[in-house]
This record gives sequence, C-alpha cells and structure tokens, in this order.
Amino acid sequence: MSLLLSLRLCVVARTESRLAGSLLLPSPQPWHKFHAGPQLSSSSKELLMKLRRRTGFSFVNCKKALETCDGDLKQAEIWLHKQAQKEGWSKAAKLHGRKTKEGLIGLLQEENTAVLVEVNCETDFVSRNLKFQQLVQQVALGTMLHCQSIKDQLSTYSKGFLNSSELSGLPAGPDREGCLKDHLALAIGKLGENMTLKRAAWVKVPSGFYIGSYVHGAMHSPSLHNLVLGKYGALVICETSEQQVNLQDLGRRLGQHVVGMAPLSVGSLDDEPGGEAETKMLAQPYLLDPSITLGQYVQPQGVSVVDFVRFECGESEEAVEAE
Ligand SMILES: *[C@@H]1O[C@H](CO)[C@@H](O)[C@H](O)[C@H]1NC(C)=O
Ligand SMILES: *[C@@H]1O[C@H](CO)[C@@H](O)[C@H](O)[C@H]1NC(C)=O
Repeated sequence: MSLLLSLRLCVVARTESRLAGSLLLPSPQPWHKFHAGPQLSSSSKELLMKLRRRTGFSFVNCKKALETCDGDLKQAEIWLHKQAQKEGWSKAAKLHGRKTKEGLIGLLQEENTAVLVEVNCETDFVSRNLKFQQLVQQVALGTMLHCQSIKDQLSTYSKGFLNSSELSGLPAGPDREGCLKDHLALAIGKLGENMTLKRAAWVKVPSGFYIGSYVHGAMHSPSLHNLVLGKYGALVICETSEQQVNLQDLGRRLGQHVVGMAPLSVGSLDDEPGGEAETKMLAQPYLLDPSITLGQYVQPQGVSVVDFVRFECGESEEAVEAE
C-alpha cells in the first residue's frame, strides 16, 4: 500500500470510530469527473497522488498517464515507464530517494524535548528483533541526554543533528556503561548483521512552543517504554499564541502531513497555494484535505509552523543532502 493511502486510511478509521456511525463517507466518484473541469474530484486527486508517490514521475506526466489509461492505475504505471524509456525522462525527476537500507526510525519525546534517530541494518528481519530495537532505544536515549545537556536558549527553540561518528561517541544512556559504538558492536556481534548508527535529530522548545510528532508504520514494544518505532518519522515545531487544548492531535496531523507530503521547507503564509509538486510546507495541499493548503488549515487554529524534521528510513544520501 502506498504511504499516502495508508496515512489517509488510518485517519479515516480514527475519524469513523470517533463519530461512531454518524458520518457517511461519500462513495468513490467515477473517473470521468476528472475530465469535467479544472477542479479535480478528491478520488481523482487521490489516484493521481498515489501514482506520483508510486512512480515518482511529475504531476503533468501522471495526469497524462491516467487520462490515457482512463483512470486505470496499473495501466497508467506501465504507460509511464514505457514513455519514460521512450522519451528518456530523467531519474532526477523522482520525488525522493529509493530505499537502499533497512532499519528503523525511533522517536522519543518528553515534555519539551523530542529526538528522532535512524539505525540501519541489512534486513527487515533483523529490524524486527528486540535486540536491534534495544539498540535504537540506546541511541534515542543517548541523543536525549545529549540534547538535555545543551544549555537552554530560553527565547526560542533549538534543533540539532548528529551524524554517524558523533553518535558513536555519545554515552549510551543513564544506566548503561560505555559509548553507543560499544553497544553497536555488541548488537552486530549478537545479530550477525552489519549495522549503522545513521543519524539523529533533536529539538528542544521553551514555553509558547509545541513539538508535534508522528511515526508511520509504528510498532510499540512494551519493553521499550515510550520509544515509538517505525519506517518514517517527523517532528513539527509550532509556536502557539493561545492556550491550546488539542495540540497533541494537531501536532500528530502536522507530523502526518510532513511524512506524507515530504516538504523541503516551511515557506510562508503569503505563498501562493501550490500543486502536488509544491515543496514549501505551508503552500502544499493539506494531506487530509487537499482542497485547502496546510497554511489554511493551521492558521485559524492560532498555531504557526516554524520548523520541522523528517526522517525516512533508508532514504538515499542525495535526498538527505537536498534537505
Ligand atoms: C560529523 O560531524 C562532525 C562535526 O560536525 C564532522 O567533523 C565530521 O566530519 C562528520 N562526519 C561525517 C562522517 O560526516
Ligand atoms: C558496515 O557498514 C558500514 C557503513 O555502511 C561500512 O562502512 C562498513 O564497512 C560495513 N562493515 C562491514 C563489515 O561490512
């Protein structure tokens, strides 16, 4: 299942259970609505986005493919690949790097701090092993301690990244001996696979700010306390002007948007609303309601998005550098 589709389904399921049957979902609209005018129906839009995520080709080409194939997703994908070969469309037009490595993203959040880490291994099989997950936990705890040891800047948020070699040298955690690289070596020895402490990000905020977070494909292991593991993760730093009651829910939705829409910058509320290819977060169509922009979704709630971090497990070096 594509990332966007599974993100939407999980939100629909939540909404449905909350409204307990009082909401009737509209039945899917027929594809011919797509041709009817400039305004795409939401089902056509969803199909388009799905094709884009799946193939990485441009909005225009995906639209052309769906039109040519009368809305048949499978045929459209085949058509796109044929055209790409024929016309030599460059691979550089791909949305983001393909997965080259397995592993996990780990999220650890406390009151005013949050960390996101990536640890890689060779196979998905090993990433499901508790010993590997405990290594991710050590990395997350070590990063959290590092973040907490940095002197507070009381007026605004702070954000930092740690690369592989910086992570290797961090102390492992409050009740563990040694550095993270010792724990890495132990895990490699126990599990017999090569592993990398790929990277970490940390965020710390003063009052008046909030860190929204989301992990996609989340698994929760009771023995790992509040560590959340998955294949994608996002932190969204918000500034809030008023006392907010629903920040947790809003923060989660913003994180989902960042995971699904992969923005490259925040942008500003003055930006023109962009299309599917938009990379400025506030001008992007909002993941859960593409008829408005993300900016139009957050502004009325008295919240400003000021920064974000997005990790995708195994994303290529080029994609990381582009950010
Ligand atoms: C990691 O970051 C440190 C400090 O910024 C830098 O000196 C080092 O070259 C980096 N290492 C790698 C492998 O990028
Ligand atoms: C393990 O992976 C790292 C990072 O990709 C690499 O530098 C190292 O050579 C690998 N080690 C082995 C034993 O393959």
